[in-house]
Parts: sequence; C-alpha cells; structure tokens
Amino acid sequence: MNALLSIRAVEKSFGGVHALGPVDIEIGPGERLGLIGPNGSGKTTLINCITGLFRPDHGVIIFKGIDITNEPAYRRARRGLSRSFQIPCPFAGMTVLENLLVPMDYLKKDSRDEIERADEVLQSVSLASRRNDPAEALSQLELRKLELARALVAEPDILIADEAMAGLSEAEIDDILSLLFRLNQAGVTVVMIEHIMHAVMSFSERVICLQTGMIIAEGAPSEVAGNAAVQKVYFGE
Ligand SMILES: Nc1ncnc2c1ncn2[C@@H]1O[C@H](COP(=O)(O)OP(=O)(O)OP(=O)(O)O)[C@@H](O)[C@H]1O
Ligand SMILES: [Mg+2]
Repeated sequence: MNALLSIRAVEKSFGGVHALGPVDIEIGPGERLGLIGPNGSGKTTLINCITGLFRPDHGVIIFKGIDITNEPAYRRARRGLSRSFQIPCPFAGMTVLENLLVPMDYLKKDSRDEIERADEVLQSVSLASRRNDPAEALSQLELRKLELARALVAEPDILIADEAMAGLSEAEIDDILSLLFRLNQAGVTVVMIEHIMHAVMSFSERVICLQTGMIIAEGAPSEVAGNAAVQKVYFGE
C-alpha cells in the first residue's frame, strides 16, 4: 500500500500516564478506517498527535510523503489533514456561516471566494437553511454537522471524525453515516473513531482496536468483531 498517512512508533505519555503506543498504522488513500477501543484507550490522543494538538514523545508521522511530526496544526490542515472534535465547541454567538469563516482565515488555501466555499460545504452537509442562524440555536445533529463542516472547509484529503455520532438517534446516525460515505465516494479518506459498533462496522473497510494505548486487533470488521481480545475488552470474560 502506498500510504497517505503513516504513523510510525508513535508514543505519548502525560506525566505518569502512558496514554499511547508505540503504535504503527498505515492509512491508504481513499480508505475508510474505523478506530475503536474502550474509554481512555488512547484514540483521541492518537488523533491529537496526528493533527498536531500534541507532539508525540517518540515516533514519526508522515503525510503525503512529508514528515509532519513537528509541524504546527494549522500547517497540517493546509496540507489536507482535517479532524472533527469529540465535543463540538462552536462560537455560540456567531452564525453558522461565520463559524466556517474563522478556520478559513488560517487555511489561506487559494484565492477562491471563502464565502462561496463555505456555502458549498453547508450545502453538502445539509445546513444551508441554517446559514444565518446563531450556532447556539442548532440541534445536536446540526451541531455535529457544523463540526464536520468546519473540518471540511479545508477541503481535506483525510478527515478524522472523533465520535461524530455520539448522542444521536438511529435516524440521525444514518444521516451522518451517509454524509461520511458521500465524502469518501468523492475521494476523501475517512478515519472514523466511534463507540457505536454497528455504525463503525458497517462503514469501515478495516478496523483497528486500541486498548491502553496499544493495538490489540486489526483487520476486516467481521474479523475484529470476532476477535477474542476485542470481545474480552467489550464484554468481559
Ligand atoms: N491532556 C491530557 N492530560 C492528561 N491525561 C490525558 C490527556 N489526554 C488524555 N489523557 C489520558 O490519556 C489516556 C487516553 O485518553 P484518550 O482521551 O486518548 O482516550 P479515548 O480512547 O479517546 O477515550 P474516549 O473513548 O473516552 O474518548 C487516558 O488515560 C486519559 O486520561
Ligand atoms: Mg476520545
């Protein structure tokens, strides 16, 4: 596989807490990868290391053949590496559109009109009708969509969605799932971090399970779901 993103021997500790690694993961262009694991298993820490919120203590991260391990987050975003956050924190008093214009200020990707691009993204996540409403007026589903839209204005090559479906109803989960499928069909590599098993298993071509910062299983969804170590983590002995 000619990897789009390579995570090599990445480790991260917080004081005495060894949160992650060493982990090695290769993600191919156009892939749909699921990342599962119990609470505190290091999923978000891994994403924070990949996207530049944290510097790993050890290891290397290569994106499109370039070593980005020590680059600031905004530069990684400009290269096409985007993530959504587990807990959406929009600028509550700003409109939906304004919430997208803020990150675009840091991207400076091209001379295309920023409002035009933001409107396209709002259309693609079905939030166009909410364009001029304050973010604080949004429903839980709409907040999740705004969080994804904020990541998508960067026109990423890879989107890492950290629990983008948490707290949603079944119908709303389907809505986000089809949005992520559409993005993937348009060529975006998608990494889905998720506790909602049927969603992550139906979406992913490959699933990786973390436990206490280490990969305990990796493979096709059915293989990982049937893996004894994974079942023990989720269901006990
Ligand atoms: N900023 C931080 N400071 C100190 N400890 C942290 C920090 N971020 C994460 N940790 C610790 O690192 C470990 C991994 O946490 P992380 O948030 O990566 O897990 P997770 O798999 O995303 O969990 P969840 O499914 O609950 O979101 C936990 O023990 C957590 O308490
Ligand atoms: Mg997390």
